[in-house]
Amino acid sequence: MKTITVELGARTYPIHIEAGLLGRAGEFIAPLAKGRRIAIVTDANLATHLATLQASLSAAGLESEAIVLAPGEGSKSWATLEMLCDRLLELGIERGDNVVALGGGVIGDLVGFACAILKRGCQFVQIPTSLLAQVDSSVGGKTAINTRAGKNLIGAFHQPAMVLIDPKVLDTLPIRELRAGYAEVVKYGLIDDLAFFEWCEANGAALLAGDLGLREYAIAHSVSAKARIVAADEHETNGTRALLNLGHTFGHALEAETGFSQALIHGEGVAAGCSLAFGFSAAQGLCSDEDAQRVAAHWRDAGLPDGLAAAGVDASGARLVDHMRHDKKMAAGTLPFLLARGIGGTYLDKTVDLTDVAAFLDAQAR
Ligand code: GLY
Repeated sequence: MKTITVELGARTYPIHIEAGLLGRAGEFIAPLAKGRRIAIVTDANLATHLATLQASLSAAGLESEAIVLAPGEGSKSWATLEMLCDRLLELGIERGDNVVALGGGVIGDLVGFACAILKRGCQFVQIPTSLLAQVDSSVGGKTAINTRAGKNLIGAFHQPAMVLIDPKVLDTLPIRELRAGYAEVVKYGLIDDLAFFEWCEANGAALLAGDLGLREYAIAHSVSAKARIVAADEHETNGTRALLNLGHTFGHALEAETGFSQALIHGEGVAAGCSLAFGFSAAQGLCSDEDAQRVAAHWRDAGLPDGLAAAGVDASGARLVDHMRHDKKMAAGTLPFLLARGIGGTYLDKTVDLTDVAAFLDAQAR
């Protein structure tokens, strides 16, 4: 088993990674549980994983109660949050009890936020079941729901007590979801780790095809990178954690244009967004065209969109930039961009002129 620690002083916690870990979750959760009660929050698509988890908790002498929500982004809402908090209060969950978030990014974000506000903060454990949640959203304590005004606009930083990652659960994940999560894996190479990007070029196809050893390696490598970044900048205040937003500003505009729908799911938006960030960096003379083309080629190899056309977006540059203006990263009229001096050479640039971005987007193939 691989264990990675997120070093955050009193809020330090471990991330355990091993194939088959879901079936042993009780062993890891029991020592954390001050009370014997565990509430599990999951979605209706994950019944098999829920049964495995409950059997393992009961073998460890813990009682568990499952709250099963509707799958999909719609559950990250005020209404579901209210219902979930009421259910957790009815169950008599106390601060020392554990709430387990078993699911993808939606469940992790929603349960994390409910636990941030329940009794002013109660303990929770993340058991992410999608690749995207395993390598990104379950680690680092960002929690949120969506509102009419946009995605993730209401939330809190609330770190989990532990993260348990079982790469075997990815066997039942739809390939499109797996590819979307893989975009976040590759992102760590693009940020500051050329050698890992090269590893992805060499091993991405086999990883996507199902090689468990490669999946375990990629998850552990990604989680180590995220743990290091979160430890350096827990609340995204000094520019380090912002690096994780590579591809997200362009991607956000594409997702907004496609209505945050199944037409373009988040990881796909990130892949196309990274291509555009590298393409824009090349157009600005910051990195080589070869690097930008190499990033796009890897997305194509992985079955991910490599730009506007593949993302199914044909809006004008002005319209896409308008979506960017509603990005929650906008501050004092400026939108910070993650640009690159090369693969592994991402940096935060607060001087980007949105007129240049619009002109660059207009010049892209539709
Ligand atoms: N997903 C970006 C972050 O956790 O900061």
